[in-house]
Amino acid sequence: ETTLGAAAAQSGRYFGAAIAAGRLGDSTYVNILNREFNSVTAENEMKWDATEPSRGSFNYTNGDRIANHAIARGMKIRGHALLWHAQMPGWAQSLSGSTLRSAAINHVTQVATHYRGKIHSWDVVNEAFADGTSGGRRDSSLQRTGNDWIEAAFRAARAADPGAKLCYNDYNTDGINAKSTGIYNMVRDFKSRGVPIDCVGFQSHLTNSVPGDYQANLQRFADLGVDVQITELDISGSNQANVYATVTRACLNVARCTGITVWGIRDSDSWRTGQNPLLFDAAGNKKAAYTSVLNAL
Ligand code: XIL
Repeated sequence: ETTLGAAAAQSGRYFGAAIAAGRLGDSTYVNILNREFNSVTAENEMKWDATEPSRGSFNYTNGDRIANHAIARGMKIRGHALLWHAQMPGWAQSLSGSTLRSAAINHVTQVATHYRGKIHSWDVVNEAFADGTSGGRRDSSLQRTGNDWIEAAFRAARAADPGAKLCYNDYNTDGINAKSTGIYNMVRDFKSRGVPIDCVGFQSHLTNSVPGDYQANLQRFADLGVDVQITELDISGSNQANVYATVTRACLNVARCTGITVWGIRDSDSWRTGQNPLLFDAAGNKKAAYTSVLNAL
């Protein structure tokens, strides 16, 4: 195969990119998007601050531009993200307790309802676990509404869009470590109690290497009975092409790893300014990392 999407499809997987609505008028960008990718994630346009800029008043203009682009071309959509401590609108940042809880659950219900039937997988909750060795939750206003806020969000998302796969998504979970084990224990608990969860996203923002137990970590989650997805892949450093191949092979070696998403198209589109962590250069040319991924798929 000669494109990432078609090569991934040979094994029933997707290959996606995070995209920005504001770049859909850039023909170089859109040509690469339409040629190479069969899944998209909105880089910012479906986040809380974008979709509910004032309480109870929803704006889907830019999220819909991305969704419509994808649907018109048969691309899957990863919804990102219903609840996250970052990129909360100012009004929600000023809430706490039961007021915040009900605003958050209403947000999940409204946004998941708006996109019902269009989303392959939703990141229902993003980055709720702490870095470091505690294995516990990140302190946040959402967490302070009660430890059950994550399961409440998943139940609300399932009720609003029963056809979407519901994911928990996080970073620094690339190997078997305290943080990934904390998430593993939550997923195991959810599965045992019937809390609706279908997938775990591994952001995989990497710097020149990947833990040796990356594949084993994906596999232990898959063995809990959830799909796993690589959701925000970008890799900086001189070993970039090799690490991209290693990550791609790890996904292909795990039957329940259903797809890979890179966090942008060209290096110049990346949130990691100056790090050139993506598969296409600023001019839209394929990099060595691109060929490395294509050959690994
Ligand atoms: C980033 C976007 O790429 C930036 O444009 C924005 O300014 C900040 O957020 N983890 C996530 C993504 O889950 O939503 C983040 O995206 C990158 C880290």
